[in-house]
Amino acid sequence: MRTQVVIVGGGPSGLLLGQLLHKAGIESIVLERQSRAHVLGRIRAGVLERGLVDLMGQAGVDTRMKAEGFVHDGTLIAYDNDMFRVDFTAHTDATVLVYGQTEVTRDLYDARDATGGDTRFEVENVVIHDAGTDAPFVTFGENGHSERIDCDFIAGCDGFHGVSRKTIPADVRQEYEKVYPFGWLGILSETPPVNDELIYANSDRGFALCSMRNANLSRYYIQCDTSDDPASWSDDAFWDELRRRIPPQAAEALVTGPSIEKSIAPLRSFVCEPMRWGRLFLCGDAAHIVPPTGAKGLNTAASDVHYLNQGLRQFYGQGDSEGIDRYSERALARVWKTQRFSWWFSTLMHHFPDQTAFDKKMQRAELALLRDSREAQAAMALSYVGLAY
Ligand code: APR
Ligand code: PHB
Repeated sequence: MRTQVVIVGGGPSGLLLGQLLHKAGIESIVLERQSRAHVLGRIRAGVLERGLVDLMGQAGVDTRMKAEGFVHDGTLIAYDNDMFRVDFTAHTDATVLVYGQTEVTRDLYDARDATGGDTRFEVENVVIHDAGTDAPFVTFGENGHSERIDCDFIAGCDGFHGVSRKTIPADVRQEYEKVYPFGWLGILSETPPVNDELIYANSDRGFALCSMRNANLSRYYIQCDTSDDPASWSDDAFWDELRRRIPPQAAEALVTGPSIEKSIAPLRSFVCEPMRWGRLFLCGDAAHIVPPTGAKGLNTAASDVHYLNQGLRQFYGQGDSEGIDRYSERALARVWKTQRFSWWFSTLMHHFPDQTAFDKKMQRAELALLRDSREAQAAMALSYVGLAY
């Protein structure tokens, strides 16, 4: 087989890239290790930056997102029973869209089907060959047969546990990591959201977040120990703990119910440099991970896709490799700024086990500055709605 771009990984970054390339008449084959149902069964975040919303528009996949998503022009920050609002439109010309990542992925799959895009599910043992040459190829197993695809480029969109990053020689790769000493216990419940905007809370008992998917589907998170087992948390225990961490007026308004999903996510910051090696380009979680606090995972994957899409269009359209040659530098420049925001927001809003009284006072002072300073709120709003590409 032969194609122009082999996309390893059928998650949101692989599918979005595939759709944008299709719009430019560039062929791709997507290789996904899991089944479609498995990929769509993953519950992930749901705050979309303006950049991702625009890209979905360019890909022609924004109809349902715009019809069902909630436009948010602000968010609430709570601490010590105090709560204040950061108004995005007071500081930027942008808003965010609250729309689940699962729905984004579903819409992208539907769009790929509609274009007859070649997507192989449940493939095994994907191996990237000769990415350092001008004639790379990918081998994989499918229905017990071994297959080979010759191509011009490989987009490694296979997440943190994929093969792509590991294909870059270890002596070429520089990896940066920070592991946070806590996790997020999250639940999904078919209950009306406690508030029409997100509430990020830093309480003495730890962090909490009140988010939503739609008018009767809410998403809540509380900071927990990484060693915790979700099964050891009853729904009642979760709701009781959440109530203790959010402001009294929100605790009173909270509508509870059975959880339909309950899981613990670790908090980690990770970046791999470079994001390109020869004909192989890393996008999304294959190259970087952020703690979920700023909801930047999917959004940063989208900015990678933006730069790679531009570079490949320039290559195939004008025979000019400037865009692909500068891909890693451009993508990483934005990745690091977004990493900083996610680290800053995580450090500000969580309770650290080894936190000293002085550290706690620093958190409080930073929160008070954010509450009282237009400039501090502007800096947060700019990162929250998404830095320009
Ligand atoms: N071969 C084929 N497919 C693979 C392989 C492999 N060896 N390894 C992993 N995959 C698939 C996974 O099954 C998954 O569907 O690659 C896909 C990667 O998708 P994601 O992990 O969702 O990564 P990405 O598309 O970059 O999206 C980033 O996802 O995890 C969230 O917070 C993250 O929001 C961010 C977004
Ligand atoms: C979510 O809705 O899952 C969500 C929202 C905002 C975050 C993280 C997760 O910062």
